Amino acid sequence: MTDTPQTHTGRIAIVTGAGSGIGRAMAEALAASGATVAALDANGNAAEETAGRIAGAGHRAMAVTCDVSVWDDVAAAARDVEAGLGPVDILINNAGISPKHDGKPASTLEMDPAEWARVLAVNLTGAFHGVRAFAPAMAARGWGSIVNQSSVSAKRHIDFVGVHYPASKAGLIGMTKQLAGELGPSNINVNALAPGRIETPLMRGVDPAVNEAVRLDTAMRRLGQPEDVAGAALYLTSEAGHFVTGQVIDVAGGWMMS
Ligand SMILES: NC(=O)c1ccc[n+]([C@@H]2O[C@H](COP(=O)([O-])OP(=O)(O)OC[C@H]3O[C@@H](n4cnc5c(N)ncnc54)[C@H](O)[C@@H]3O)[C@@H](O)[C@H]2O)c1
Repeated sequence: MTDTPQTHTGRIAIVTGAGSGIGRAMAEALAASGATVAALDANGNAAEETAGRIAGAGHRAMAVTCDVSVWDDVAAAARDVEAGLGPVDILINNAGISPKHDGKPASTLEMDPAEWARVLAVNLTGAFHGVRAFAPAMAARGWGSIVNQSSVSAKRHIDFVGVHYPASKAGLIGMTKQLAGELGPSNINVNALAPGRIETPLMRGVDPAVNEAVRLDTAMRRLGQPEDVAGAALYLTSEAGHFVTGQVIDVAGGWMMS
């Protein structure tokens, strides 16, 4: 068991992309803080593994296999989660992709339009699908909390991501502010996280020299860990953070500080 304060007791949370990296850390942190967690991932085995780790730590979780880019699948997932756990209070739109080719992003001048469409479908439309499926029950019950996983790359040029990635992450910031205004009267807070370079499978796809350069350019002289991002998500989704809404919180150790 853990000594994490139980600030999420009684809450039902869903985390997309919970089979790996930051999503898994957020799912585990929410569970350790008292929430019952639905771990959703397109990789069903990975979702099962996360749910198993949470159950092994003595908490309640269910695994959901779902591609967030497919509306019918997300709508079905919402029905399954509500039937299995109850209405969802907390939605973390974390699932995301950043395609590379031999460790490098496609240049815009050569990018396959299908790759552009896929990144937007997963990273941005996937988050809309999550909100469309899960927020109505939050509004009906008069409490909810939504966190969208953006990135510092939404705010400044980075030469190791393709143009689709920051476009999708900047879209999430616009969506966050619009939703904060629209859903605030229903007592739902909506925020975005903007992680810097966090050590996960997603960031290991590039030349290690790229990550070392980021580390040296980071005020705190280290790369982030998934748990660093989970800590910010815990705050925003707790009662203590509920009056914070429409914000973009950098979790970047001072890299690309703004
Ligand atoms: N790692 C970083 O440095 C970093 C920095 C900024 C933002 N982010 C963002 O954080 C989020 C998580 O990244 P990560 O580093 O943990 O990546 P990761 O690759 O370790 O995990 C992503 C998870 O999302 C799942 N996923 C992918 N497509 C999906 C889909 N269509 N439907 C459902 N699940 C899907 C994958 O199966 C995987 O389990 C992403 O949105 C990413 O863009 C990461």
